[in-house]
Amino acid sequence: MSSTQEFKKKILCIGAGYVGGPTMAMIAHKCPQYKVTVVDINQTRIAQWNSENLPIFEPGLDEIVRSSRGRNLFFSTDIENNIRDSEIIFVSVNTPTKTFGAGAGMAADLQYWEKTAREILNCANSPKIIVEKSTLPVKTALAMERILTSNDNREQFEVLSNPEFLAEGTAVKDLEHPDRVLIGSHETESGLKAREELVDIYANWVPRERIITSNIWSSELSKLVANAFLAQRISSINSISVLCEKTEADINEVARSVGMDSRIGNRFLNASVGFGGSCFKKDILNLVYLCNHYGLNKVADYWESVIAINDYQKERFVINMLNAMFNTLAGKKICLFGFAFKANTGDTRESPAVFITKKLLEEKAQVVITDPKALGNARIELKGIDEKVWYEENPYKAATGCDAISVMTEWEIYRGLDFKRIFESMVKPAFIFDGRNILDHKKLFEIGFNVYPIGKPALTHF
Ligand code: UDX
Ligand code: UDX
Repeated sequence: MSSTQEFKKKILCIGAGYVGGPTMAMIAHKCPQYKVTVVDINQTRIAQWNSENLPIFEPGLDEIVRSSRGRNLFFSTDIENNIRDSEIIFVSVNTPTKTFGAGAGMAADLQYWEKTAREILNCANSPKIIVEKSTLPVKTALAMERILTSNDNREQFEVLSNPEFLAEGTAVKDLEHPDRVLIGSHETESGLKAREELVDIYANWVPRERIITSNIWSSELSKLVANAFLAQRISSINSISVLCEKTEADINEVARSVGMDSRIGNRFLNASVGFGGSCFKKDILNLVYLCNHYGLNKVADYWESVIAINDYQKERFVINMLNAMFNTLAGKKICLFGFAFKANTGDTRESPAVFITKKLLEEKAQVVITDPKALGNARIELKGIDEKVWYEENPYKAATGCDAISVMTEWEIYRGLDFKRIFESMVKPAFIFDGRNILDHKKLFEIGFNVYPIGKPALTHF
């Protein structure tokens, strides 16, 4: 399939981010009969997608990009021509929380969305299926349609909602074996027809029974609700971790017992320093805004409390450090093991480590950050405030001369480190605050550390 004409269909994705890039790479990989192009306004990002060093780190992503790039997967900055040329257009531009005006700090900022809709309208000269891939407030499809039909060309566009459920760090696996693919459409003849076209694409590798369809509003809402439920589980277990620290209960034992109830299930019950990532907080705030908009203040409060517990968990982590280290951190050197918001990604958006670093700096501590993939993003997050921050990829070097280690990210490599060697290189008394409960606490205590897990009694030598 060398020339463009031979492709069965031309698919475009606007937005080459964490969602657009991997999703399109998987479609191209699984469907060589389709031409898949990803465009972005960010030239540097597109250049990276076309290089050996992809702009995001995801296990397995390099391989699938390499297998299709130049064959049926293309990355480009030519948005106009590609809009004109494609039959199906995915929109995966970012929708951050608004920082200004009405709904600031709550509602989604839809300016990129609207700009993209207008761009499609201005460039398109044939019918297209537009697929919402970004997470959006419910009824965004309606707004999109209003823009797309503002030129009296109603029949040209059919808007579908196809939210992405991939998690970072496991994106390739999630895309290859999704729990479900959800496609929302209008329940009109043309809506159902467009929906079938999208079903056909996914059916190239996803079992039919896992491809579910719904009306467009249910689809949009399902995405917000799925993320809200996941975040709620973490806040639930984290809220119990505080109680465990006050009693003699152990959060791992509680989580295990609770999770073995098959109605509850055992996943997403790891107590932690708090959840991060670009989605959970943003999507819950979106849900809260939506509820308030409809006057459902009690429902809004309920979901907002999920964020309140998450903030509390991060705050109390620093307070615990302060209390344990004799009520002063000034001048002390704290080493953060991990800065990414979770393991296997270099992404630091909303990472608890960002909050913790800022608080430690307020306490006049010095912070040494180590992370296998996220040091670049850490530097960007802390730009302008990192006079007392050091970045070091090697965890042994990072911990040398420090008073304490705080585990921020559950990177597998931290479990296998030689903590005896680390202990010897640190200032005494040496402390470990395990914000992910991934280390062998008893062993660390025997080496000589004072150990503070989440949701379990501390092991100290005092
Ligand atoms: C995801 C979700 O899809 C989205 O709902 C959420 O708001 C953020 O997380 P993600 O792919 O992670 O999006 O976002 P990001 O990595 O920021 O990528 C968005 C891309 O869109 C960027 O590369 C940006 O340059 C591009 N973009 C943005 C455009 O191409 N055009 C625009 O007008 C705006
Ligand atoms: C999430 C959703 O899982 C995904 O379906 C959606 O498409 C995007 O948002 P992501 O943010 O990439 O994905 O990562 P996720 O694995 O959900 O973790 C989110 C945060 O919760 C991380 O900071 C993680 O460390 C934390 N977490 C997760 C816990 O603290 N405890 C857990 O048990 C699980």
